[in-house]
Amino acid sequence: MLPIYDQKSRIKLVIVAGALLIAAATVIYTNILVQRLSEREQQQIDLYAKTQRYIINTEEESDNSFLMDEIIKANTTIPVIFTDADANIIDAKNVSIPKGLSEQAAIAFLRREIAVMKQQHPPIVVEIGAGLRNFIYYKESALLTQLRYYPLVQLAVIGCLAIIAYFTFSYSRRAEQNRVWVGLAKETAHQLGTPLSSLVGWQAYLRESERFRDEPIVEELGKDIRRLEIITERFSNIGSVPVLKDENILRVTQNAISYLQSRVSRKVTFEVKTDLPTDTPAQVNIPLFDWVIENICKNAVDAMDGRGSITLHLRRPIRNKSQIAIDITDTGKGIPKSKIERVFLPGYTTKKRGWGLGLALAKRIIENYHRGKLFVKWSEVGRGTTFRVILKG
Ligand SMILES: Nc1ncnc2c1ncn2[C@@H]1O[C@H](COP(=O)(O)OP(=O)(O)O)[C@@H](O)[C@H]1O
Ligand SMILES: [Mg+2]
Repeated sequence: MLPIYDQKSRIKLVIVAGALLIAAATVIYTNILVQRLSEREQQQIDLYAKTQRYIINTEEESDNSFLMDEIIKANTTIPVIFTDADANIIDAKNVSIPKGLSEQAAIAFLRREIAVMKQQHPPIVVEIGAGLRNFIYYKESALLTQLRYYPLVQLAVIGCLAIIAYFTFSYSRRAEQNRVWVGLAKETAHQLGTPLSSLVGWQAYLRESERFRDEPIVEELGKDIRRLEIITERFSNIGSVPVLKDENILRVTQNAISYLQSRVSRKVTFEVKTDLPTDTPAQVNIPLFDWVIENICKNAVDAMDGRGSITLHLRRPIRNKSQIAIDITDTGKGIPKSKIERVFLPGYTTKKRGWGLGLALAKRIIENYHRGKLFVKWSEVGRGTTFRVILKG
């Protein structure tokens, strides 16, 4: 396996850990600020209340009334409401009453404010002599409230940006991958074309010639040419928008299998099973579909060390009866749970001579070109694996 995927997931882990750390630091730091500001507001309101009490209880103009006024005026942020003992509102400061309210509505508004304030702090009692008392209700300033929610807002905004960045990035990466696949395939088909057509010419020439006509080599050459033509067709199909046709899926699958069977050890047995009617159609592009079956079955053979069975089961999936599912089950070594997600990644291979492109290509062919699905349906180490191909019926 290429170490690139291990490295990638480690980098991801570091990025996520870093992001969490920054988020936690922001929240903790803001909380400290909120705590400090809250303490200061508490001190300010205490001083404010003391001043009020002093002013009320001092009848004659005192020398420091000027200082008192300053203290009262200094509170421009903390909302306060005064009431008398009978809960009549005497005055309100720093409470923004919505404009255009009638007097009654404004009083109702202030009463609701008082209820909110009561929940935050008990009111400060101001003795005004003769057993009478006023109350000062107050709540934290708008600034403090905003600061409390600031880290949440900030994290939400950063989160949104991160999500947008992620999708943009993965979209452009996918677009780039598409260009590479398609370009390379077109180029390959194009390059194969020239020698192939001259091979066809040579074979025709040999067939005509008295000397070679009856040689078995001419037949064999023909088979290889046919094989090369199939390969060229595959590449040219993957390099363009492939045509899907309603094909007899059972026959197409059987043909693909019999071709494979003749090329692998006899100790590997193939079987095609189905309960479907024999003429069931599915939308496929035969050269590309054959390529998928070939890739999956070749992997199955590799996973079995030359002995075992491969079963292809065609059926309609329980959940969507308009589709055709082809389950390809082998009796090979299986795929560990932790690796199942990776087998479709280009470059992922556990083989000495593997390229790790077979399944990536198969998935592309099925999902992008056939609008179907390809996934590992079941796998158990030491017992085997089932790949499921889903096609449109
Ligand atoms: N039927 C299977 N059983 C066990 N492992 C499998 C099977 N099919 C695929 N794999 C695993 O997935 C990897 C990727 O497969 P593939 O993309 O075809 O690349 P390659 O065949 O070149 O390794 C294989 O190397 C193997 O580890
Ligand atoms: Mg392979």
